[in-house]
Amino acid sequence: MLALYRQRASRYDMELAPFEPIRRQAIDRLNLRPGQTVLDVGCGTGLSLPGLCQAVGPQGRVVGVEQCPEMLAQARERVAVDRSGTAVELVCASVQQAPLVGWADAAMFHFTHDIVCDPQALAQVLRHLRPGAHVVATGLQWAPAWAWATNAWVWSAALYSVSSLRGLEAPWRLLAAVLPGLRVEPVWQGAVYVAHGQVPDAP
Ligand SMILES: C[S@@+](CC[C@H](N)C(=O)[O-])C[C@H]1O[C@@H](n2cnc3c(N)ncnc32)[C@H](O)[C@@H]1O
Repeated sequence: MLALYRQRASRYDMELAPFEPIRRQAIDRLNLRPGQTVLDVGCGTGLSLPGLCQAVGPQGRVVGVEQCPEMLAQARERVAVDRSGTAVELVCASVQQAPLVGWADAAMFHFTHDIVCDPQALAQVLRHLRPGAHVVATGLQWAPAWAWATNAWVWSAALYSVSSLRGLEAPWRLLAAVLPGLRVEPVWQGAVYVAHGQVPDAP
């Protein structure tokens, strides 16, 4: 899949254009406040960065983690012209191995199926979230079985963007196990989910 993203990097933003309203919904669900720190996990070309920077402002911090150098190079270009004053760190590494430092108030997983279905990757991110941190995950999912035309689209989109179709029936399953009360909103006729919840307070 890394090889595919290396090829897709130059046309990725154009391909994602129809999904932008979902990105805005996801950023909104993070409930970010000025001065907070947010992780953009699998940040790709950094399409979420302007919205995240605007939400946390000049006192805030945004950390993007991305394994694909070509995708991250575009994120770096985006940050270079950003005028929000937010401190942005971009880490080129797999989430599982990323040298994350300190604590974050929120984490966004926007169309990162391979990451939200990987227990090791999720554990690494959760280790750096404060109690009460907001978490939002979005991505493809199977629509109800009768919606076969929608699922034909999910199938073709997934073949182009995820390593395995496994988990598409409930991609938020691992998150739900660690974030009690995780809310899952289906959008796009059930072909896409927006899941949001909060890290529980320490006992
Ligand atoms: C569909 S793109 C989404 C990019 C971005 N979140 C967005 O909103 O446009 C999925 C991204 O996750 C990255 N990715 C997948 N697995 C990863 C991992 N284990 N560590 C870091 N990045 C990963 C891919 O390289 C790709 O850039």
